This record gives sequence, structure tokens and C-alpha cells, in this order.
Amino acid sequence: MSQTFAAHDLLFKMMISEAEIQERVKEMGAELTARYMDKNPLFVGVLNGAFIFTADLMRACNLACEVDFVRISSYAGLQSTGQIDLIMELKTSIKARHLIIVEDIIDTGRTLHHFIAQLKKQEPASIAIATLLLKPEALEYPLDIDFIGFDIPNKFVIGYGLDYDEQGRHLNAIYQLVEAE
Ligand code: IMP
Ligand code: MG
Repeated sequence: MSQTFAAHDLLFKMMISEAEIQERVKEMGAELTARYMDKNPLFVGVLNGAFIFTADLMRACNLACEVDFVRISSYAGLQSTGQIDLIMELKTSIKARHLIIVEDIIDTGRTLHHFIAQLKKQEPASIAIATLLLKPEALEYPLDIDFIGFDIPNKFVIGYGLDYDEQGRHLNAIYQLVEAE
């Protein structure tokens, strides 16, 4: 894998390698398997960013489970817009289901904070959050995060589903923005 990647006008350098991600995803899958055995959990992937992580995390689990996706938009370019739009809703009924919300990254926590409040109204049996990345310094909204892949510094990152204006999602590693000195 290349150590750097150029997306639009910006340069990114590798932060977390493909091997590190794959190892951590396997560990998380083992934890989920132990926790959700016989519960037939519903993975709820948050598009677009979590499409790769959702696919890998599910396949790292060894249990009966299902998957659905929502599409929430809150970001444009490098900045959170402060607005939450539920563009695509769940097709599955979630009443009395065990939900595992799968995110690529939690930044301010705004997106999931609002989304989870909406989900609770539909009375699921439980809601857990699994995120590949967390920026602890950026977190502003209260969230119970059950499964965290990696804590990262407050840097803009791309790769493994994450994008900079739609570029970089296909990368197998996580890359961080190289800031001008
Ligand atoms: P939050 O609502 O501030 O927690 O933002 C969460 C969403 O913003 C994530 O699902 C991502 O789609 C996007 N996001 C946050 N940080 C980054 C980043 O560093 N790179 C790319 N997308 C990000
Ligand atoms: Mg996202």
C-alpha cells in the first residue's frame, strides 16, 4: 500500500495500516459474537462511510445476524454542517430487535446522538454503537459507545470507506491529512 494519497487538492499520509485494521476488526467481531450469540442482532450501517466496515465487521462475526442501512448526511468537505438529514430509512422493523449501529467515525457525535434518539422511539430491545474510529477530543454530544476500533487524534482522515468530497473511500488503510507547515 502506498504511504501517501492525493485527493483533490490535498495530500494524505498513512495513519493506520490495512493489517492493523483487519486485526482490530477480527477482535471486534469476536466481541460481538460473544455478546450477541442467539440474539439475531440487526447491523445498521450508516452510509456511505460505513459500507466497508459494516461488510467486514459482519463477516468477522460468527452468529445469526441481519443487516440494513440508513443514509444520514451531515458533512460537506472537511467541516460538519451541523444539519442532520435522514435521506434513506430502514426497511426492517426494529421493534424488539437488538441493534448494532455501525459507523466509520464518530467526530462530534452529533449524527448518532440525533439518530439514536429517533431509533429509541421505535422501541428496539437494545442499541449498541460500533465505530471503527473515534476522535475523543472532538466529541461534543453524549453517546454510549460500546465498541471502538481506534481512538485517533483530531485530524481529518480518509480511506476504508471515509472520504474527502467522495475521494479515497476505496483505500484499504486510513490516511490522515498532511497539514501545511
Ligand atoms: P459527527 O456527527 O460530527 O460525529 O460526524 C460523523 C460523520 O462525519 C461521520 O459519519 C463521517 O461521515 C463524517 N466525518 C467525521 N470526521 C471525518 C473525517 O475525519 N473524515 C471523513 N469524514 C468524517
Ligand atoms: Mg459517516
